[in-house]
Amino acid sequence: MSVKIGNIDLGEFPLLLAPMEDVSDPPFRYVCKQGGADLMYTEFISSEGLIRDAAKSRKKLDIFEYERPIGIQIFGSDIESMREATEIATLAGPDLMDINYGCPVKNVACRGAGSALLQDIDKMVKMTEAVVKATHLPVTVKTRLGWDDNTKNIEEVAERLQDIGIQALTIHGRTRAQLYKGEADWTLIREIKRNPRIKIPIFGNGDVDSAVKAANWRLEYEVDGIMIGRAAIGYPWIFREVKHFFKTGEFLPGPTLDERIIACRTHLDKSIEWKGPKVGVFEMRRHYSNYFKGLPDFKHYRMLLVKEENIEIIYQLLDEVAEKYEHVLPFSEMA
Ligand SMILES: Cc1cc2nc3c(=O)[nH]c(=O)nc-3n(C[C@H](O)[C@H](O)[C@H](O)COP(=O)(O)O)c2cc1C
Repeated sequence: MSVKIGNIDLGEFPLLLAPMEDVSDPPFRYVCKQGGADLMYTEFISSEGLIRDAAKSRKKLDIFEYERPIGIQIFGSDIESMREATEIATLAGPDLMDINYGCPVKNVACRGAGSALLQDIDKMVKMTEAVVKATHLPVTVKTRLGWDDNTKNIEEVAERLQDIGIQALTIHGRTRAQLYKGEADWTLIREIKRNPRIKIPIFGNGDVDSAVKAANWRLEYEVDGIMIGRAAIGYPWIFREVKHFFKTGEFLPGPTLDERIIACRTHLDKSIEWKGPKVGVFEMRRHYSNYFKGLPDFKHYRMLLVKEENIEIIYQLLDEVAEKYEHVLPFSEMA
């Protein structure tokens, strides 16, 4: 059976690309879409920034036709600002709106936004209601299990947010207090799925980094789909690998060196196209080592790539990588 968010049909068991600040921008989303992501989200966008028309926030509203379906994620601490930001973001034409109630970082959570709302469910409900009323689009929410070990209130959150109209919920199997430490625990996510009151799709998130884990956790935790974040960084093939394994029970071979070079180059080209040559080249630097993880002695090329400003020379360096490592085993066999 297909999973649906409003009228958006996501297929049988969708794989979502997680929103990631400074990562899931349009260039990164381009390669993840090619890799097979079924639903993608923007980086989170500050509601206050949108209202003030801050350039950084505005820029994050850029979405492209080939990315659909795509959601814009917003965060904030003030209900009226979130309402206004929803109206602004809706005009950018996404397929859905998403609210971030999961961000644990200090300058978000300590200012009453992101995961801070897990400490004030009444306010979270009011805020969500304001967002739902401010847009004709489906609204989804992404959050965590609770604030800390003593306050895992995700069951109440799921029921109350569904009641005021959200159309899907993604749960990261950690508390705010855990940040990104320890292992994600999806046990409570399964509880939400088993709650007969819950009708909306529930997506599991946290630590899925292989086809086997995705298949095991799909079975074990009974979720409607999985959201993948860090494992897609430098490895957009994770989506197609998971899908292939679901379909056939067999492992798809990992990407060839050529595929890695092409994806890296595409990411670079899209960065330059969207950010301009200077920023595009600069911000691509954080990605090179991820695309070539596992290549023996890649450090030499990484050092050159992260210093280089000239685009043509970067292309040449990538060609050199292709030549030098032509005969090494496929990455999947090296692991
Ligand atoms: C660099 C980085 C940036 C992130 N930015 C966001 C964000 O903007 N919005 C959000 O909801 N979650 C954000 N997250 C959390 C991820 O969406 C996801 O919940 C988390 O990484 C766990 O999933 P994973 O184990 O598949 O990476 C971010 C995570 C990382 C690593």
